[in-house]
Amino acid sequence: MPTVISDFSVLSTDYAHDPYRSFAELRERRPVHHEAAVDSWFVSRHRDVRRVLTDHETFTTETLRVRAEPVMRGPVLAQMAGAEHTAKRKIVVRAFTGSALKDQEEAIRTNAQALIAPFLPCGRVDLVGEFGKPLAIQITLEVLGLDKRDWRKVAAWHSGVAEFITSIVMTPERRAHCVHCAEELEEYLVPIIEERRARPGDDLISRLCAAEYDGTALTTGDVTALIINVLAAATEPADKTLGLLFRHLIDHPAQLARLRARPELLPAALAETLRCTPPVQLIPRRAVSAVELSGTTVPAGSTVFCVIGAANRDPEVFHEPDRFDMERQDLGAARSFTAAAQHLAFGAGLHMCVGASFVRTEIETVAALLLPLLEDVRYASGFRYAESGVYTRGPVALPVEFRPRPRAAAR
Ligand code: HEM
Repeated sequence: MPTVISDFSVLSTDYAHDPYRSFAELRERRPVHHEAAVDSWFVSRHRDVRRVLTDHETFTTETLRVRAEPVMRGPVLAQMAGAEHTAKRKIVVRAFTGSALKDQEEAIRTNAQALIAPFLPCGRVDLVGEFGKPLAIQITLEVLGLDKRDWRKVAAWHSGVAEFITSIVMTPERRAHCVHCAEELEEYLVPIIEERRARPGDDLISRLCAAEYDGTALTTGDVTALIINVLAAATEPADKTLGLLFRHLIDHPAQLARLRARPELLPAALAETLRCTPPVQLIPRRAVSAVELSGTTVPAGSTVFCVIGAANRDPEVFHEPDRFDMERQDLGAARSFTAAAQHLAFGAGLHMCVGASFVRTEIETVAALLLPLLEDVRYASGFRYAESGVYTRGPVALPVEFRPRPRAAAR
């Protein structure tokens, strides 16, 4: 049953506990909801969200100057426009697609094998805390060309950066903590960037150092911001997606059995996970002029949040949208990782995620490795599934049990 909307607030504990219960009422009765406490608008219908994300004349990414720049230590890709955006985006895209992606596949598999191996003999692992989180950060470090052995300290700084970007309200103390994390991360990165300028390798940092925009090389500040941008963008949603995929499969044993029998359904299971439970739940924009959405006028200068979870469950677009069905006919696995995607988990328009192909390869490679290893996988006894996060959302933990295997079986 949907919650009663009269005292609805995106900032309420009810919403934080389970936003999915509110989405139908939100779309139907408050499709353009004004949240007075933060003076922002929350847009939830699929067609309105797509409009906000693709009408670049009316909606800009200006909000990120306040919401991201202080912890990115400079402008992020999503803030840029025009030729600068196209040029810098191309550099990042190249590092995560084509032949670069082929090379990364092996690194993903090797990292995943090493991380899961110690858990196989005991038949129990927390797929979020003990596996997904370290894996996502280690893989990103490898692609960037940073030392994987530093993952714990980078993860700690990253969590401050992520907290800053994903908080809707924040105390001055937490804000100071997050900015401090970002400063430490910057201090760690700057000497590495200088070193790559002198001795380039085959990694994203070296490529960013060598890249030119408008005849000028990127400054160390530009490179730092792009690295933190990729670190935050690649790590935060990836571990959540893996946890969410396994949660859906465990909750739907018939679909899990079907996937085991037909592993070629994995892209479809991943696409449906992203539609049904998108890890990035909110995308902010600024309306530069007054604009009407679903009969409500949003004033010029307003902050507008796209509620991706609600848009992805809009019955105007998806049949029985609250049902997880990896074989649904109205999604399309192949296009779900491209600009033609029906779901909006990767955003849409000029700023659509540059990591969609990468994350597809990452999660598919890891899930294809795990599924045969985790025979008879189920929630650990006594575990009660819970999610957290309003801006980005995923399982708090995912302890699972499975049939124990001898250590050698991971290889
Ligand atoms: C399941 C995993 C992921 C999800 C759900 C996701 C989601 C998103 C979304 C919703 C946006 C649009 C933001 C906006 O319009 O303001 C975005 C942008 C972006 N994503 Fe991802 N992302 C994922 C993985 C990755 C990975 C692995 C990378 C690694 C490179 C990445 C890098 C970026 C970057 C750099 C942008 C900004 C692009 C631009 O402004 O041109 N993401 N992502």
